[in-house]
Amino acid sequence: MKIFLDTADVKQIREAYEWGIIDGVTTNPTHVAKTGRPPAKVYREICEIVDGPISLETIGLKAEEILSEGRALAKIHKNVVVKVVNTVEGLKAVKQFTAEGIKTNVTVTFSPLQALLAAKCGATYISPFVGRLDAIGHVGMDLARQIKTIYTNYKYPTEIIVAAVRHPLHVLEAALAGAEICTMAFDVVQQLYHHPLTDLGIEMFLNDWKKVPKQ
Ligand code: E4P
Repeated sequence: MKIFLDTADVKQIREAYEWGIIDGVTTNPTHVAKTGRPPAKVYREICEIVDGPISLETIGLKAEEILSEGRALAKIHKNVVVKVVNTVEGLKAVKQFTAEGIKTNVTVTFSPLQALLAAKCGATYISPFVGRLDAIGHVGMDLARQIKTIYTNYKYPTEIIVAAVRHPLHVLEAALAGAEICTMAFDVVQQLYHHPLTDLGIEMFLNDWKKVPKQ
């Protein structure tokens, strides 16, 4: 499963990318707002760091606005994926982007039928927001599993990005569900490395090594 970093924080992206396990980046208006920096600068820097798909979100709600914003975003770098909201207007734009060869990530997706419609319009990626469903008492990962079944049934090439991930268990479940990608915050990526038995095991080996005669 590919791991994307879900942030616009260039410092975090640079650090995590050096670990060798980051395959791409997803941003959104909230992430960009948190940086307090102009989006154009942030986007250019991310594209310089990461050699992989980088989702940049459109803001307009009308298809024509989404199309003109998305075309401009796609010109920033060959790795740019235009993020579009899952609405009638958004999917009209996705259909056109597909015809123009511009990659898309259909975001704020909360139902398998929304995901079916996005795939029909040729979306490159679909982003089910699992953590936000969990927060209102639904099993968010069921959405990713249902999308996987539908896309497999009909051989849609649209790839699933499990999004709004809150903890490592979401990452595990995304991988078990066969999602192609899971996007997560920096701290969740960090948590994936840690296991107390690994720390203890290293400590034991190092202590035992001290007892080994050196000559
Ligand atoms: C995905 O592409 C989104 O950026 C992200 O996962 C949104 O989720 P959150 O704001 O609920 O964390």
